[in-house]
Amino acid sequence: MSFVQATEAPDRRTAEIKLHDPAAAFAGMAKAGTIAAACLDMLVAETRENVTTQRLDDLARQFVFDHGALPACVFYRGYRHTICTSTNHVVCHGIPAERVLKDGDILNIDVTVIVDGWHGDTSRMYAIGNVARKAERLMDVTYEAMMRGIAAIKPGATLGDLGHAIQSYAEAERCSVVREFCGHGLGRVFHDAPNILHYGRPGTLDELRPGMMFTVEPMLNLGAPGVKILSDGWTAVTKDKSLSAQYEHSVGVTEDGVQIFTKSPAGLDQPHAKKS
Ligand code: MF3
Ligand code: CO
Ligand code: CO
Repeated sequence: MSFVQATEAPDRRTAEIKLHDPAAAFAGMAKAGTIAAACLDMLVAETRENVTTQRLDDLARQFVFDHGALPACVFYRGYRHTICTSTNHVVCHGIPAERVLKDGDILNIDVTVIVDGWHGDTSRMYAIGNVARKAERLMDVTYEAMMRGIAAIKPGATLGDLGHAIQSYAEAERCSVVREFCGHGLGRVFHDAPNILHYGRPGTLDELRPGMMFTVEPMLNLGAPGVKILSDGWTAVTKDKSLSAQYEHSVGVTEDGVQIFTKSPAGLDQPHAKKS
């Protein structure tokens, strides 16, 4: 794949990987990422038994508007909500609804905001009440898998190195990596090149360069990796009904490593581990 200076590329998905000026773009991405992360912080106290996922969506939308941001998912390919709420065997793209959360549920909330044209895209896992030990372990492993993927990011490393770091750890922990969904380039465009695979072989695929911006968002299952999409056209579930978890950060490649744009201002990067 080839690279292009972002300032010379159109503001839409293209085949080329956009390289951004860290001085200009990274500040905008950090601002957008921080508002997205603060939205997920706000939801920590709201993710309780008997709360509907629609209520969480209402709170998120209000938070986003109150912070001078726009919800990127509203009207995105016909989607109508600010967040995706994916419980238990839902892998991703769960649609907020009037169904209430129950004791023992595990929940992923994924939010994407736009601030000054820049996108901040992040998701975390939340535990409702007391969750089973195996569910807790899946969430721990998923967070660690994402962080190992991010730790592999530096100029000269490859996207295959990133995918391998995630896959090798996840499978050693007896979890499987979903193949049908991947991370993506991010900036003024929501889903841009390149695809960020959460599996792979060391040394393969594109080399990372300073100025690249993308998401790392592995989905891990306790059972088999296969997924199917429900008839609503969005909700992805595990074929074998096994539990699934996901974490997501937006990042940029720096001269000597990586910058995470979506770190929690409140230190709640792993809400699943804090709730009782
Ligand atoms: N935030 C998701 C991602 O990580 C995309 C959700 S698209 C939606 O890329 F339309 F379902 F919201
Ligand atoms: Co997301
Ligand atoms: Co994303």
